[in-house]
Amino acid sequence: MYNSFDRNSPFDENIGELDMAHLQELLRQQAQRRPLYENVAILGCGYVGTALAYHWQEQGHFVTGTTTSPERFASLSEFISKVVVMKGDDARAMESLLQDQDTVVVSVAPTGDSIVDEDAYSTTYLSTAKNLVHALKQATRVKRIIYLSSYSVYGDRQGEWVDETSPVAPLELRDQVLCETEKILLQAANSNQRVCILRLGGIYGPGRELLRMFGSLAGMTLSGKGDRFINWIHRDDIVGAIEFARLNSLEGIYNLVDDSELTVREQIELVCSHYGLPPVYWNPSKPSHSRKSVRVSNQKLKAAGYQLVHPQLLV
Ligand SMILES: NC(=O)c1ccc[n+]([C@@H]2O[C@H](COP(=O)([O-])OP(=O)(O)OC[C@H]3O[C@@H](n4cnc5c(N)ncnc54)[C@H](OP(=O)(O)O)[C@@H]3O)[C@@H](O)[C@H]2O)c1
Repeated sequence: MYNSFDRNSPFDENIGELDMAHLQELLRQQAQRRPLYENVAILGCGYVGTALAYHWQEQGHFVTGTTTSPERFASLSEFISKVVVMKGDDARAMESLLQDQDTVVVSVAPTGDSIVDEDAYSTTYLSTAKNLVHALKQATRVKRIIYLSSYSVYGDRQGEWVDETSPVAPLELRDQVLCETEKILLQAANSNQRVCILRLGGIYGPGRELLRMFGSLAGMTLSGKGDRFINWIHRDDIVGAIEFARLNSLEGIYNLVDDSELTVREQIELVCSHYGLPPVYWNPSKPSHSRKSVRVSNQKLKAAGYQLVHPQLLV
């Protein structure tokens, strides 16, 4: 390439046109290699949404992030191009949010005490999805929607493997809501507006360390055998996979869990031994509090080319 530029030196007046063709090709190739700068909207700048916003700001995108909390406006505005205080059930705010966006990420979850309130769960997910789908009809610039769902939609498989072809089997109303949300969004997909659903494992990472979740159990005796499989995903990989989905225009459903394949007993042992804490004991004669156990395959996302940042649990 450089040889041809040298050969067609700018000092040679006769080859000006040829140089321009080379230059244009070079620019085209560079534009393809470089991540495109986009207008991106993140509905729900909570734990994941905030990390994603930070990443995309650093990449040079124009990020619009939402919160329901007026008191978070100032702190989010320190690093997000534009912050909007809104709820997903506000149809006008949704229409306005979607204007001129290229990519929209849905990362909403009921926060605070509402986490136990099933109505709030429905309102948060279903109203947001319905409003989003409605607003998309006018928002023709939006090319992709990425929704963060959960592997809990698979329900209890007694430790068996599931992949994206496995039928969903939600156990609780909350998981039914997540399934319904997936459906609403997938039905809105078309050749111009692609929808990608990421079914996440339990989220952990800075500020949500496994030590915080399991450390307080050290020295206790827990009901059951501890043989349930719980799937996890580090926040770095959620940000990484969303970016991968954006760059590769992924569509359809992808599981997003790490490779660790450990039972809850093994996970707690890992944490306790790493931090020198007393071990946890198990009482198999008492039934476990939760009956959900399922091993989730991440092969589809890997086959698409995504490489996990943290394939094993980080303790
Ligand atoms: N936590 C897990 O282990 C887990 C597992 C699997 C999947 N997921 C999914 O992963 C995603 C991200 O989870 P996260 O832990 O980052 O959630 P999070 O920290 O609880 O943040 C949720 C965000 O949603 C916003 N929000 C709450 N109610 C809303 C409403 N009605 N309309 C619009 N926005 C609303 C919150 O607003 P404020 O800023 O006002 O709080 C917050 O910004 C969620 O979609 C969740 O369902 C989570």
